[in-house]
Amino acid sequence: MWREASRYYLTYFILLMIGSGVLVANYNEILHKNPTLETQRLLLRKFSGDDAYDLFEWGSDPEVLKTLVWNGISTIDEAHDNIFNFYLSRPGIFAIQVKESGKCIGCLDIRIDSDNEKTSFGYVLNRNFWGKGYMTEALRAVLEFCFVKLEINRVEANHYITNPASGKVMEKAGMKKEGITRQSVKVKGVLHDCVLYGILREEWKDLNSVV
Ligand SMILES: CC(C)(COP(=O)(O)OP(=O)(O)OC[C@H]1O[C@@H](n2cnc3c(N)ncnc32)[C@H](O)[C@@H]1OP(=O)(O)O)[C@@H](O)C(=O)NCCC(=O)NCCS
Repeated sequence: MWREASRYYLTYFILLMIGSGVLVANYNEILHKNPTLETQRLLLRKFSGDDAYDLFEWGSDPEVLKTLVWNGISTIDEAHDNIFNFYLSRPGIFAIQVKESGKCIGCLDIRIDSDNEKTSFGYVLNRNFWGKGYMTEALRAVLEFCFVKLEINRVEANHYITNPASGKVMEKAGMKKEGITRQSVKVKGVLHDCVLYGILREEWKDLNSVV
C-alpha cells in the first residue's frame, strides 16, 4: 500500500519538476527572442561592453545609490566587469538607451518567479535624466512585455518608503499600492520599511483596453 502511495507521490513530484522546468525554459526562450523593446523615446536592449562609461556615471553617484541595495562601483574597469559578470549574466536585464542620443541612461531588470507566474523588477536611472518620464515609459513597455509576451499573471515591486519617486513611477504605469512591509529590508546597516506595489494581468488588460 505505502509502496503504491510513494510511487504516486514520486510520479507527481517528477511531473511537477518537469512542468516547472518547461515553464522556465519557455520564459527564457521568449526573453532570448525579444532582446529589445522599443518605446517612443527609448530602446530597452541588452548591455554591451561599450556601456561601461555610462554605467559608471550612475553606478558611482551616491545620490543614485542611496535608495538601492547595490553598493555601486568606483572605476570604469569595475563597470566593465559588472557588465560581463552581472548585466549579461541572464536574460531580462535591459539597458535603457535614449534613441536620439544613443546614450545608455539606466537599467530595468525583471526577475521571474515561474512557480508563481509572477515577476518582480528593479530599476535605476542616471540622475541627469530624472523627472523626464523615462522610467515610467520604460516600465510601461516592460509591463506590456510581461503580460502580453510572457503571459505572466502578476508583476510586483517594492520601494523604500523614503523613495516616493519610485512609487510614483509604478502608480503612473498602472500598478496599485498593496501595503507597507515594516522594517523588511536591511541595507547598509539600516532597516527600511518598504511599500509593495502590484498589478495583475486582468487589471493591466482593463487599463489598456486589451481583450
Ligand atoms: C526612481 C527613479 C527610477 C525614477 O525615474 P524617473 O525617470 O525620474 O521617473 P519619472 O520621471 O518617470 O517619474 C517620476 C515621478 O516621481 C515624482 N517625484 C520625484 N520626486 C518625488 C518625491 N520626492 N516625492 C513624490 N514624487 C516625486 C516626479 O514628479 C514624477 O511624477 P510626475 O511625472 O507626476 O511629475 C529614479 O529617480 C532613480 O533612478 N532613482 C535612484 C534609484 C532608485 O531609487 N531606484 C528604485 C529603487 S526601488
